[in-house]
Amino acid sequence: MENPFIYGEIVPDEAFADRETELDRLVADLSSAQKVFLISPRRYGKSSLVHRALHTLSRHGALTLELTVSSYSSYLAFLEGYARALATVETTWQQARAWLADVIATTRPELRYEPEEGGPGRFSVAFPLVRTAREVNRLANEIFSLPGRLAADRKRTVVVALDEFQAIDAFDGGEVEHALRAAAQQQRQVGYVFAGSEPSLMEKMIGPRRPFYKAGPVMRLEKIPPAVFAEFIEARFARSGIRAEPGLGAAIVDLAGNLPYDVQRLAHETWDDVRSSGGRRAGLEQLHATLTRLLSEQDTMFEAVWQRLTLAQRAVLRAVVLQGGRELLSADTRARHRLGGPSSIQASLAALVKHDLLLKEGQQYVVIDSLFREWIARKTY
Ligand SMILES: Nc1ncnc2c1ncn2[C@@H]1O[C@H](COP(=O)(O)OP(=O)(O)OP(=O)(O)O)[C@@H](O)[C@H]1O
Ligand SMILES: [Mg+2]
Repeated sequence: MENPFIYGEIVPDEAFADRETELDRLVADLSSAQKVFLISPRRYGKSSLVHRALHTLSRHGALTLELTVSSYSSYLAFLEGYARALATVETTWQQARAWLADVIATTRPELRYEPEEGGPGRFSVAFPLVRTAREVNRLANEIFSLPGRLAADRKRTVVVALDEFQAIDAFDGGEVEHALRAAAQQQRQVGYVFAGSEPSLMEKMIGPRRPFYKAGPVMRLEKIPPAVFAEFIEARFARSGIRAEPGLGAAIVDLAGNLPYDVQRLAHETWDDVRSSGGRRAGLEQLHATLTRLLSEQDTMFEAVWQRLTLAQRAVLRAVVLQGGRELLSADTRARHRLGGPSSIQASLAALVKHDLLLKEGQQYVVIDSLFREWIARKTY
């Protein structure tokens, strides 16, 4: 029996919970060729949602392609990856080669095919003649126009997903954004989703004076409603032959701070422990045993993170955990946790946010990693 909970990768359809409204909206916006910005903190489920939406769109006849901007080490490498993805949308390698040679006029693309044992083989595109920044920009303009060309050539809607889009900033700042926005705007048959996981960077990108200002609808992905997620978890346990005692789903969601990744991790690990001990039921006792195991496995790493913090930051972080992230500046909290003045607390909070340890949700600060939160509560003083 396979573990029904998945974390750390894009979730397959059967392990995908809720998000029905978000999915409907994304599918509708993309099929009407909108340019959508999808923003959320890390590990909320953007990539999974985008993947699912593209899957639906492709079943409805659209040509879809997905690229993770952050995985390219340079602007040119990104353009090569983009060209490759465009060329190989549902075509054979020979057709892809012919199409690219036809549509790229400013330089000569080099196409390589490497056969792969037991697989369809790998195909790569390179632009060896492109060297200067000017040549790169010229090529970029050409490649960014290709989704429109593809839609026209194939008489199909094209949908482009650029994940980790905030990473585009590192390539060469303003130029890429301008070029991409200008091209996308003219493509009436092409939907785009720009997904990004650093909300502050993404919000800046859609701010006034930036190319993507008012380019299209903005979706801010929230957490999954806790009751829905809890029920989903219990149902998945049941279907896999392990009975979840009532309340287990809610306890997992709560302990995981309702972060989708953490919820799945805790459910996955609990399921594993129950399974390997030959049990058929999972309850709070099993959940806590699993939590204890996970905390001890991560102990060295958490200890190292803790050691790197200043004393003031440690005190503030502990206060966040013990106070549930609220009322941190009040005289009462400051006295109880022996914190400094409000401005020093603010400075520590800002540093902790910058280190990706804390996140501000409305008026509340939360520790992003729920295991780290539990570790702080148990192992620090
Ligand atoms: N709809 C969902 N149902 C169930 N689990 C989900 C869902 N969405 C996300 N998850 C869980 O969260 C994990 C992270 O999801 P995903 O990679 O899609 O998020 P992300 O926002 O793209 O994260 P990152 O910012 O790290 O790229 C998944 O591996 C899965 O465990
Ligand atoms: Mg992602």
